[in-house]
Amino acid sequence: MPAAFDVPYDSAAMADSVPTPGVSEFERSVKAGLSARIKTLDSKYFYDSAGSALFDRICELAEYYPTRTETTILRRCAPAIALAAGRGAELVELGSGSSVKTRILLSALDRPAAYVPVDISSDHMLGALHSLRAHFPGLDIRPVSADFTEPFVLPVRRGEGVRLLFFPGSTIGNLHPADAESFLRRLRRDFSPQAMVIGVDLKKDEGLLHAAYDDALGVTAAFNLNILERIGRELDAEVRPACFRHEARYVRALGRIEMHLVCTEDHMARVGDMPIRFHRGESIHTENSYKYTLTEFTTLAERAGWHSSAAWTDEDGLFSIHLLAAG
Ligand code: TRP
Repeated sequence: MPAAFDVPYDSAAMADSVPTPGVSEFERSVKAGLSARIKTLDSKYFYDSAGSALFDRICELAEYYPTRTETTILRRCAPAIALAAGRGAELVELGSGSSVKTRILLSALDRPAAYVPVDISSDHMLGALHSLRAHFPGLDIRPVSADFTEPFVLPVRRGEGVRLLFFPGSTIGNLHPADAESFLRRLRRDFSPQAMVIGVDLKKDEGLLHAAYDDALGVTAAFNLNILERIGRELDAEVRPACFRHEARYVRALGRIEMHLVCTEDHMARVGDMPIRFHRGESIHTENSYKYTLTEFTTLAERAGWHSSAAWTDEDGLFSIHLLAAG
């Protein structure tokens, strides 16, 4: 039985101008994406319970270097981050998932005032918090159930220390650079944090990128296809996941790896009252993952009003962690 304080703070319910991302919002988004000339699906819908569990498996794959590399870097730089944050910081994590990285940072911080995980997948987050609570028995944990790509509110700030945002996993890379910049600006404006720790994946050999986004066991393929299965599970829809295959394409000129679901057979699908024609060879573009150089990212963060305090990478230069200061 989860304790009463495990009930997440429902950010959308607190601000009535923000619509709850319920099924109708999902249906509206799917219809808009699949009726466009170039078909797309919004990647935030990857993360239902099944998708979140598949993503946890991606993070453990031999080919998926970001998670373990970022974890290694974080072990090394956590003391410096803790020193910069000082005593009694409030740690706010965006897209908390079920991360071991959180534990590394929380262990390093000097008596953190609170931990505020924000995630779109509420059940998944609460499951992960259960074991976190066992590790940090005295910690004030205040989960927020929200889609952080939309405006949301945080519970009243705790303690006298700094508010430290934590945004690992290179999720920032899933936004177009212009959107990444306005997102970073918005975080600073809406939450008045003093600092942010952000994980950013780096440009590298294309072979490594392809392997990371199209693994031999097919877990990434299952993760990508799950978005179609979710449409079938949750909406009044007829879709055929068996008529699609996963593809990862690196587009060097744009510095991004693209996820696609490529149609393998001409067929008709339906979402609500909307028929959708699919042609063999066409694809549904489901996600982008932008890769940066250290300077490209620092420049972007500075344009968004942040100052780069420090950046760390692994010895192979695969991944980076940036410490940004707000003031
Ligand atoms: N933020 C992750 C990344 O860009 C998300 C991700 C990993 C992902 N593998 C994926 C998204 C495969 C879609 C498909 O690395």
